[in-house]
Amino acid sequence: MNAFTPGAKAKILVDGGDPEETIRVKRLVGYVDGQTTNPTLIAKNPEVRTLVSSGHKLSSREELEEYKKIVQAISPLVGDACVSIEVFADFDTKAEEMLAQGREMFSWIPNAYVKYPCTHEGLRAAQMSVRQDMRVNMTLCFSQEQAAAVYAATKGSKAPVYVSPFVGRLDDRGENGMDLVRNIKQMYEAGDGHVHVLAASIRSLKHVLGSFALRAELVTAPGKVWEEWAAASFPLPAADFVYQGTDKEGTPLKPIPYDPVDLNRAWESFDIRHELTTKGIRQFVADYKSTLRQSA
Ligand code: E4P
Repeated sequence: MNAFTPGAKAKILVDGGDPEETIRVKRLVGYVDGQTTNPTLIAKNPEVRTLVSSGHKLSSREELEEYKKIVQAISPLVGDACVSIEVFADFDTKAEEMLAQGREMFSWIPNAYVKYPCTHEGLRAAQMSVRQDMRVNMTLCFSQEQAAAVYAATKGSKAPVYVSPFVGRLDDRGENGMDLVRNIKQMYEAGDGHVHVLAASIRSLKHVLGSFALRAELVTAPGKVWEEWAAASFPLPAADFVYQGTDKEGTPLKPIPYDPVDLNRAWESFDIRHELTTKGIRQFVADYKSTLRQSA
């Protein structure tokens, strides 16, 4: 942290695919610890959009080259929370293929984290990755069992592993996504500390303050949320701050109860299925393909 530090203990990350946005946030906040990207955000990158709207759809290789260019521009702008780069994974993608992509992406920049989904194959890829000293961020996490599996599959990792609970997408369907962050943090108290919680799918300043209050190690949010934080003079949560969200009709969000999960089980024994993980993969595949010359 530097002289501008607004005092947040959590690392702050920009959730986006545009280096100009990272520069804007850095100017406003004074620093940016890291960045998260995903296929949806890359498809929204202004240069990628210009290319696609001019009728030049990309080949898979060109798409990868564009992704690489974007993360190479972002890489020097951020601090030690690094830049998360997501592999392409559909329901048929095997762990070995994810690992091969991950290795390539990991070589693009010196400060990469490779993002794998919280699926059986994603966890297998993560396990192999950490054994090869790659840094990993496990995405599309919607349950404590998934977070427990991340913990068990990545034990022994030299670098902190990130797990990304998707707060906003749980809120969207009327469940209190911040409870998942709280529950994972509580569950990890019994662990060795090698997995850090990266609060993701953050949509509002209230989400940011809730994540700070729960001591998430990292928080990723779109530039406009960090701009709002800066405009409000970098508020921090009061000691008794509790996130209270409502759905679109104003009904309070349904609490997600704590599940007493034993972290010491084999990762394969956890029930890691979640319909929002499935839906999320489907959406990322569609957004990835939207930039491609032909759908594969
Ligand atoms: C970051 O790692 C996630 O991909 C991102 O926060 C998802 O956010 P969304 O639910 O707003 O798409």
